[in-house]
Amino acid sequence: MAAAAIDEWWQTGVVYQVYPRSFADTNGDGMGDLAGIVDHLDHLGGSPDSLGVDAVWLSPFYPSPDHDFGYDVADYVGVDPKYGTLADFERLVEGCHRRGLKVVIDLVLNHSSSQHSWFQASRASRSGDHADWYIWRDSPGRSILGGRRAPNNWRSFFGGSAWTWDDAREQFYLHTFLPEQPDLNWRHPAVREALLGVVRTWLDRGVDGFRLDVFNTFFKDAALRSNPWRLGGRGAWSWQRHVYDRDQPELRGLLAELRAIVDERPGRMTVGELFDGRLAEAAPLIAPRHLVFDWSLITLPWSAAAFKGAVLARDAAFGPERWPANVLSNHDQPRHASRLAPAGVDAAAEAEGDARAKVAATLLLTMRGTPFLYYGEEIALRNLSIPNAEAADPPARRASFLSPWWNRDQARGPMPWTGAPGAGFSSGRPWLPLPPDAARRNVSAQAADPASVLSAYRGLLRLRRATPALLGGDQALVDQADADVLGYIRRTDADAAFVVLNFASRPATVSLPAPGAGRGWRVAWSTAGDGRSESVSDSIVLGPLEALVATA
Ligand code: NOJ
Ligand code: CA
Repeated sequence: MAAAAIDEWWQTGVVYQVYPRSFADTNGDGMGDLAGIVDHLDHLGGSPDSLGVDAVWLSPFYPSPDHDFGYDVADYVGVDPKYGTLADFERLVEGCHRRGLKVVIDLVLNHSSSQHSWFQASRASRSGDHADWYIWRDSPGRSILGGRRAPNNWRSFFGGSAWTWDDAREQFYLHTFLPEQPDLNWRHPAVREALLGVVRTWLDRGVDGFRLDVFNTFFKDAALRSNPWRLGGRGAWSWQRHVYDRDQPELRGLLAELRAIVDERPGRMTVGELFDGRLAEAAPLIAPRHLVFDWSLITLPWSAAAFKGAVLARDAAFGPERWPANVLSNHDQPRHASRLAPAGVDAAAEAEGDARAKVAATLLLTMRGTPFLYYGEEIALRNLSIPNAEAADPPARRASFLSPWWNRDQARGPMPWTGAPGAGFSSGRPWLPLPPDAARRNVSAQAADPASVLSAYRGLLRLRRATPALLGGDQALVDQADADVLGYIRRTDADAAFVVLNFASRPATVSLPAPGAGRGWRVAWSTAGDGRSESVSDSIVLGPLEALVATA
């Protein structure tokens, strides 16, 4: 069955995630700010030298005590002074729109900060207006050791029980994440109204879309039943089947209501972050103008077979109707240039790592779905190395055997813009160390180098825009004899693109599919540069770690 027409910006466009704290600092306090993002919009879009993305997604910039760096929101409609003012936000929206960039903001609606006035009011009184805005329960009694028993067996994703006792209210409250992130009670009509009001406020302020943090955990089982135990993997979270603390049927109705509000303004989109789930949970939650991050690609190793398996599994789960969201890196996971890199730290390993990053970029920017880039990946930024004991990321500091949490600082390093001291990021002391290779791996050095990873991203984005098949075409794998090669064809009625990636560090022979009656393949792009003859047919030899796109 042919897919429906694919022509909306959130399908054909490329979204670029900015982690505001780490992008660019204008006032020397070592933290990025909204004015810093405004200063660097030309990097993203609007001029011939820009990367050429279509939308910017901003991780949270709301007032926050930063127990989870902004994912603990103390005011849903404000701007934290460390990031600037509402006027800066308006300038940012205006600057994006002037350049043809859409603005997507992060909404963290499963939980607020414990500093939010709603939670303060809720904890202060069992009978006040906000009493039931969060999920409070009595203790069912004492354990044999004398401690208060929690209402059920649910765990916090960041370690420990999901319940914390509050002395003021003399009850437990629920927190799927940190104790400083109490879960809101979406079953309460006033909470629903207030949070949907937040959506309306930001639409009025001109945003084009929302990324919904952990959206499939908004609703919990109404009776708060304990999860069944199971034999799991690493960490106590995996020792339960999460049947009662996420993925409840009430979510469907809420999503429809939220979508109806967003749909009052044509061209707006949402993307839901699937919390701790996979393709089977993601597929039924995809809807018109609503994408879902399903994490198919974000943990894969460097292997053609692994990527092939992921493409097949997703095709089977989504079919031709559901539009995927493609992500290799974000602020929670190791940077993919490090994840996919070969072992070793010498210059040869670094060069090979960059070559792999170009192959990965080719995949991300040509496979079916909307690509989401994470700031810094366009220069193949690597992980920072920060021991857990020195981590700024609070969950990493709580890591233990029962909660083998990872250190997300590694993926949140300051963006190196130039080779100057401070890397053009800040004139002060950056909140996390600069990447150690910032003097040579930075935006301005790579912009001047036609063989750089940045130049590859620019070239691929140009190719995408010029090739309808890469934007909206169907996709089918093209079998290859060489197990280190991944090939696929994208096709519309009017054109076709054949993408082929050599994962091996040796040459590989590739067979091309038939281009379609009356057409011939021409090489449109290759990570190896321009040295190829234009027309190709039947078979072609790729160089080591070469990725190539032919169009017809
Ligand atoms: C998912 C976000 O991506 C992550 O950074 C955050 O810690 C949790 N949700 C809790 O909000
Ligand atoms: Ca700053």
